Amino acid sequence: MKASAYAPGKIILIGEHFVVYGKPAIVMAINIGVKVIAEKRADCIVHISSNLGFFGKYKNQKFESESMELNSRKHLEPVKIASETVLKELDKRCGLNIEIHSDLPIAVGLGSSGALAVSTVAAIGKLLGANFSEKEIIKLSFEAEKYVHLHPSGIDQAVSTYGGVIVFDRNRGVSRLNIETGIPIVIGNTGIQRNTGMLVKSVRIKKDMFANVINSLIHTGGQLTSEAIDVLKKGNLKQFGELMDINHGLLTALGVSNDALDRLVNSAKKSGALGAKLTGAGGGGCMVALSTSDNRKKIANAIRLAGGTPILAEKTEVGVKTWLNH
Ligand code: MEV
Repeated sequence: MKASAYAPGKIILIGEHFVVYGKPAIVMAINIGVKVIAEKRADCIVHISSNLGFFGKYKNQKFESESMELNSRKHLEPVKIASETVLKELDKRCGLNIEIHSDLPIAVGLGSSGALAVSTVAAIGKLLGANFSEKEIIKLSFEAEKYVHLHPSGIDQAVSTYGGVIVFDRNRGVSRLNIETGIPIVIGNTGIQRNTGMLVKSVRIKKDMFANVINSLIHTGGQLTSEAIDVLKKGNLKQFGELMDINHGLLTALGVSNDALDRLVNSAKKSGALGAKLTGAGGGGCMVALSTSDNRKKIANAIRLAGGTPILAEKTEVGVKTWLNH
């Protein structure tokens, strides 16, 4: 018997980085994600294969790569950590075959590692007969996320688990934003992979150096999200776009934007986007533009002409889901 799980990726609409310091952020699940299929093995080996070209097995903690990719271990380790966390939680021991099918580009701010951790935990939980709650899935997937991002806020696993549009606050938890209007977006990928943990660290170093200045920016970041929640509830996309622009300015002030991101943000704005900003940790990766429903193709084209890869993703209400494959 095999068990499967699927979890969506995400776009942070407002509030990345500030969320690490206890401010709320608005994040939206997108209809691109990661599927994991898990199966028990008769031996104690954990074998992991990914459609992204990473293959390998763990035997008594020893990793053997089966692919030409030099980075295989780095990519498969979080899956091994997630599987061990579940086995420990359930007090079980067994070997596993774990297959990963991901449609999300990695290390560009779309939550690929969060979706992978969540779907791994959920698939193995299902396989072993555990009926994990959403809160348990978030808690159990945190170990893998810490390996990838060092000190993550937990926002990525939360949205991959719940789906929809949520306000995430690491102290107050998660609340769902039920929004009447659509949120038409265009994502632009610079194609530059980056390390979230290092970018979060760079902000911390700046905060240690210029505490008053950066604390004021963090405070403003929190106010920005509060305003954004209000305007989104009213369905005022024009004002929401303006707040996204301000958010990009604040993130630039934190030092996490770069030329490639600014180019895509500016080209989206010139082609009529209501707002545009980097999304995720910055330093490369993706930006997101807010569009009117009839202008997405034009913005996508402008992003392409500016050297980026446009992605026409949509909001999804569906979070993690599991099923058995008999
Ligand atoms: C990563 O998707 C968003 C950051 O705020 C880091 C985090 O919240 O863990 C940059």
